[in-house]
Amino acid sequence: MSNEIEAIKDPGLPAHIHRKADHDPVAAKRAERQVAILFGISSLGTVLLIASFFIPEDIFIFVPVMGSQNAHQLGLGLGMAISLFFIGMGAIHWAKTLMPDQEVIAYRHELRSEDVDRKEFVVAVKDGVEASGIGRRSVIKRSLGAALGLSALSPILLLRDLGPLPGNDLKETSWKAGTYLVTDPGDRRIRASDLEVGAVAQVLPESDDPEHRKLNDIAKDAVLLIRLRPEEFNLDAERLSWTHEGIIAFSKICSHMGCAVALYEQQTKHLLCPCHQSTFDVTRAAKVIFGPAARPLPQLNISVDGEGFLIARTPFSEPVGPSFWGRISS
Ligand code: FES
Repeated sequence: MSNEIEAIKDPGLPAHIHRKADHDPVAAKRAERQVAILFGISSLGTVLLIASFFIPEDIFIFVPVMGSQNAHQLGLGLGMAISLFFIGMGAIHWAKTLMPDQEVIAYRHELRSEDVDRKEFVVAVKDGVEASGIGRRSVIKRSLGAALGLSALSPILLLRDLGPLPGNDLKETSWKAGTYLVTDPGDRRIRASDLEVGAVAQVLPESDDPEHRKLNDIAKDAVLLIRLRPEEFNLDAERLSWTHEGIIAFSKICSHMGCAVALYEQQTKHLLCPCHQSTFDVTRAAKVIFGPAARPLPQLNISVDGEGFLIARTPFSEPVGPSFWGRISS
């Protein structure tokens, strides 16, 4: 199959209008000169560009106005712009006025090859296989099969190379039984009375060395405290017992892909993840009511110590963060 290109001879088409330079030698000569001038201006631009590297900066007339560095940059930029613009203009003018001006028609054929071509192809492939001797040479056949099979493993290795697997990193946080909840920032212990109804606060587990917390730990330990009226909860008895005087605590890491769930709508009592709009209902233990997250935000079981400071009663009962590598969704 091939495309045939022929000069138009179709009488149904309007007559081709020839350019002046096609039949007037004077016009052709003029066009030639115009193209040469455009290329000449381009050359001057290149000369300006090169000169800007070597001539002293204070020669530029703009130096008093814009400073030597800017004037130098201007020389370089202007030189390059003139060089490229006029070489392009020259080429276009050349093509439009002097290069062959011929309308052509291209005939397109069906994409399917002729039957005879297809048969020839099959015969050629068979001949090739026969000539290679792969049918008779079983050692080559097997080793080639092994090589191709092994090469298919490369993509798996490349995928593995995307980064370390998360391992147990997100299965363990710094929250332990009895860990105090502290403000972030500030590292102050919190009493229930510090939080008004409707308020939300980010807290971290108390640390012996708060100045040197690892970023990684802060990211996975962050917890959101939200205070509602106790009667607003719609929780089973166990989850209700994990709250304290209307205060409920959730991991701040989205269970979809790990963004920080940072938006709280006080009216609806919804937590929103800004990344892909997963929405969690605080009154129902952060149940997912919209978006791609596959499971609720893990809830932290909280209580208070003898002095009324909020503490974790247990660690998180499930891993925090994304659940795409095989967490139990609920
Ligand atoms: S990371 Fe939160 S919705 Fe995707």
